[in-house]
Amino acid sequence: MAIISGSFAQTKTTEKIVYKDAKAPIDQRVSDLLKRMTIEEKAGQLNQLNGGLFTGPAAKDAGQKTKMQQLRDGKVGSFLNVLGAKETKAVQKIAVEESRLGIPVLFGFDVIHGYRTIFPIPLAEACSWDLKQAEKNSAVAAKEASSAGINWTFAPMCDITNDPRWGRIMEGIGEDPYYGSLLSAARVKGLQGNLNDVEHIMACVKHFAVYGAVEAGREYNQVDVSRVMLWNKYLPPYKAAVDAGAATVMNSFNVFEGVPASGNKYLVHDILLKKWGFKGFLVSDWSSFSEQINHGYAADRKDAALKAIQAGSMMDMESKVVIDFLPQLVKEGKITVAQVDKAVARILYYKFKLGLFDNPYKFSDEERENKTMFTDANRTEARNAAKSSIVLLKNTNNVLPITSPTKRLALIGYYAKSKEDMFDFWIGNGTANDAVTIYDGLKNKLGESAINYAAGYNADGTTNDDLINAAVKSAYDADVILVNVGISGKMAGEDRALANPVIPDGQIQLLKALQKTGKPVVALVTAGRPLILTKINDLVSSIAYCWILGTETGNAIADVVTGAYNPSAKTVVSFPYAVGQIPVYYNHFNTNRPDPTDDAGNWFSRYRDIPNDPLYPFGFGLSYTTYKYSDLTLSSNTIAKTDKLNVKITVSNTGKVDGEEVVQLYIRDITASIIRPVKELKAFQKIALKAGETKELSFTLTGKDLSFFDADGNAKLEAGAFKIFVGGNSKDVLEKDLTLK
Ligand code: GLC
Repeated sequence: MAIISGSFAQTKTTEKIVYKDAKAPIDQRVSDLLKRMTIEEKAGQLNQLNGGLFTGPAAKDAGQKTKMQQLRDGKVGSFLNVLGAKETKAVQKIAVEESRLGIPVLFGFDVIHGYRTIFPIPLAEACSWDLKQAEKNSAVAAKEASSAGINWTFAPMCDITNDPRWGRIMEGIGEDPYYGSLLSAARVKGLQGNLNDVEHIMACVKHFAVYGAVEAGREYNQVDVSRVMLWNKYLPPYKAAVDAGAATVMNSFNVFEGVPASGNKYLVHDILLKKWGFKGFLVSDWSSFSEQINHGYAADRKDAALKAIQAGSMMDMESKVVIDFLPQLVKEGKITVAQVDKAVARILYYKFKLGLFDNPYKFSDEERENKTMFTDANRTEARNAAKSSIVLLKNTNNVLPITSPTKRLALIGYYAKSKEDMFDFWIGNGTANDAVTIYDGLKNKLGESAINYAAGYNADGTTNDDLINAAVKSAYDADVILVNVGISGKMAGEDRALANPVIPDGQIQLLKALQKTGKPVVALVTAGRPLILTKINDLVSSIAYCWILGTETGNAIADVVTGAYNPSAKTVVSFPYAVGQIPVYYNHFNTNRPDPTDDAGNWFSRYRDIPNDPLYPFGFGLSYTTYKYSDLTLSSNTIAKTDKLNVKITVSNTGKVDGEEVVQLYIRDITASIIRPVKELKAFQKIALKAGETKELSFTLTGKDLSFFDADGNAKLEAGAFKIFVGGNSKDVLEKDLTLK
């Protein structure tokens, strides 16, 4: 009998320890190791504990000493929030050298948009429509994180949402499933590469599934969507991320059809594992296994463990129900060893694939950590990402860009000098002190003497006469007044739902006073969500929506304000006209009475007090130049289901500066066995056009692009009438009819 203990294990026989043989195929190493493990050690691999800062409720934290003993006892398979080459090495040493089998641990962390160099929030990054840049951003984040001992991030978040009241709208992909799918896949590729080097880390597709549909945008609230909406609106981005090879998937907190996602057999087993053939492993969200009790689905912690594992869920983040009850459940025959082995095998596979058995400290290299962190190259990428995320929503009289060096500027706004407000909750291991504020960025570009600064309002958005008078005074000799309005980045992220996602009243008061100076006023809006801008829209000449841009905020905004960069971003979320209009989104349905049905303007789907349209629609964004769309042509007006359709459009840069334009192609399936949205994005191209340049673009559509899913997730392609739209946003489009035979 071989006595195995730790990595210096000597055996009393000449037995080959296959799992320790770096030359053996991974699946043989996994099965050899499984054979040697006790059920408690298998439960340990399904147990993830927090090892650092809290990113969820600190339910009875056992304390580091106890956790390290649990690690020695083989009862912990991974930690989250342990950061740093030195720190992870110390923990890994215990796992590898002091436990019976020496199984290394995984280190997970929320690298949501950067580890130390912090990039724009994912929602802002999405507005760049630059998939290559998005992939690069994730690769930089992975490179920094992997040098700090992290080998797994809980990203990308692939939750479609239409609700700016939900704090986590900042974390995702916007409102469109097609673009959100491409973006999710790009983020996975950037994070993982081929997972065969030390500079990439495992991705985690989250939150599976439909977390973005929380009722009224209230955090952790009820979710209730139909299977038709599940398959057509919410699932595609998760599927694209899984198909891109994501190593892991995270259960979401919410229910689907009355069953919590952690214990939802339809979501986990039927869709993810069976229909999609996902080969990686699942991790719960923070204590989401045990929170099935709060939902009213699990009777107690043992029942919670049973329901999660029976549904096909696997690793338990922080609720400890699996480590506490799995051995008992197996003993009682309620869960089979085979079920446990299937889950544990997937986790062990990735530990072998990452090379952790053969070189447990490969990610914990202090020298590489120092060399990799926060380099100029990383910051340059962050600046490129940030400037291409800024959406120019309004620019009357071309007040922007401010190109003449002689122009004096007034910069107003408490946030414009506040480093910490340039970050959201997911600041990774970044520090606010690293931030280039808007004031710094403009000073770097124009010199301090060109800028008069005044706070104008307090940290909480309130103001008073003194603050307003000082702001008006600072604008007295300015040619243009820049006002940074919005809400703090600290109000973006988890558990940051706002019933009123609006510009604070104090800032509106300030803008009214500044408008009275008669000078052009430019709003630089910073927020981790689309705020209701209706009350400021007519108070300012220009609106540059800057989202939350992270470390390089100020430099990126200065690049746009001075015209060093011509804004090219387009919003991926609709800007509601009013809170009461939420949810408003471009891919809505037609309803039974979409247009006026009689000359008295009665009997149609509308509000009596606001328009149906959002203030700014999906896909909208201005440039410092202008573009003209013409000659939309289809290769045929009638095609068979097996045909390809070629769509051509001519786009001209009719202005005086070079720019980049996101040309968008939408379809509409006029009549189908289930109603289809009035528009669905199906292709786009971001093109560069020099001043005066014209380009003819071509797109190819196939039957897949004209298909939809039925309630069982089967793709349907139905003959009938379609429309093809092409334009620079979801509203201003050219259109052509198409018949599918
Ligand atoms: C949080 C979030 C999840 C995150 C996890 C670990 O509650 O919901 O997105 O990855 O816990 O921090």
